[in-house]
Amino acid sequence: MIERVVSPKLKDEDVAIDASLRPKRIDDYIGQDKVKENLRIFIEAAKARDEALDHVLLYGPPGLGKTTLANIIANEMDVKIKVSSGPAILIPGDLASIITTLQKGDILFVDEIHRLSRVVEEALYPAMEDFAWDMILGKGMAAKSIRLKLPHFTIVGATTRYALLSSPLRDRFGATYRLDFYDQSAMERIVHRSARILNVKIEEAGTYEIARRSRGTPRVANRLLKRVRDFAEVRAGGVITKTVADEALGMLQVDHLGLDDVDRKVLEAIVKKFDGGPVGIDTIAAATSEESDTIMDVYEPYLLQLGFIARTPRGRVATKAAYEHLGLPYKERHPQPDDKAQQQTLW
Ligand code: ADE
Repeated sequence: MIERVVSPKLKDEDVAIDASLRPKRIDDYIGQDKVKENLRIFIEAAKARDEALDHVLLYGPPGLGKTTLANIIANEMDVKIKVSSGPAILIPGDLASIITTLQKGDILFVDEIHRLSRVVEEALYPAMEDFAWDMILGKGMAAKSIRLKLPHFTIVGATTRYALLSSPLRDRFGATYRLDFYDQSAMERIVHRSARILNVKIEEAGTYEIARRSRGTPRVANRLLKRVRDFAEVRAGGVITKTVADEALGMLQVDHLGLDDVDRKVLEAIVKKFDGGPVGIDTIAAATSEESDTIMDVYEPYLLQLGFIARTPRGRVATKAAYEHLGLPYKERHPQPDDKAQQQTLW
């Protein structure tokens, strides 16, 4: 499989680096200003009342800092955090064995919470709402339900796919925050901060270039910074200038907007194989040999953000900007007046 350096998905190589670069306190967390402001108030109020924080749901594309924020919340609340994920919790018993170790105020971080099975999700409801765990003892006529009391704890759930969450689950979160792609200025500050922590010499124009090609995603920025640093050390005397960044990222086939071969393959499939669309996600997946879920989670959000594709009730269409980016002539499609009105957002 081709290595994808701009994938926002967590890779093994990110784990060690992430630990040193991840901000630990809310004041060190760059960007997402609205989320930060709301969280600060939410946390301060809970602390002042000496209560556990209400359950928090974080959603948005991968790599934007949901796990980082969960850890920051735990640090700011001065509580312990246990980490699990939707696919890792197979049966209600798995959940029980984590929840029963929590103390008052502790956080259970559930990544990919949209992938919880139905039985687990249903067992979670009374735990979240009433801090109660229902157990069935015995079988048949003799079966009895008993209710265990749990300490007041906090679930921090994270998902890339808000739409896949059932409404009873959504309703049990007291606060829901959506993370957006970071703007250029925030990305530059993140690259600058990471370079300082990693002791990398970087010029302002080098910072700008890495930030610009990181698809608004801190995880990608940190990975590109590392790769450009390697290039700078081996080929360019260790300093990341604009030229060094340009050359290194060119070699990695990351274009000036942060798109790589897979993004281009997706766009080209829509344009060349399906005449610009509309085309369904499963068809795009088949044409590109990628999985539909991966396209929806990973590629599509950034292509939507750039305005290169649009979602319509009949499927995805490539926009004029996409044709221009690919260097292909744009053909006006038949007017489809309902496209705009009915465009759905990912969330
Ligand atoms: N590293 C990764 N995400 C970050 C963020 N939002 N702020 C600062 N450093 C980061």
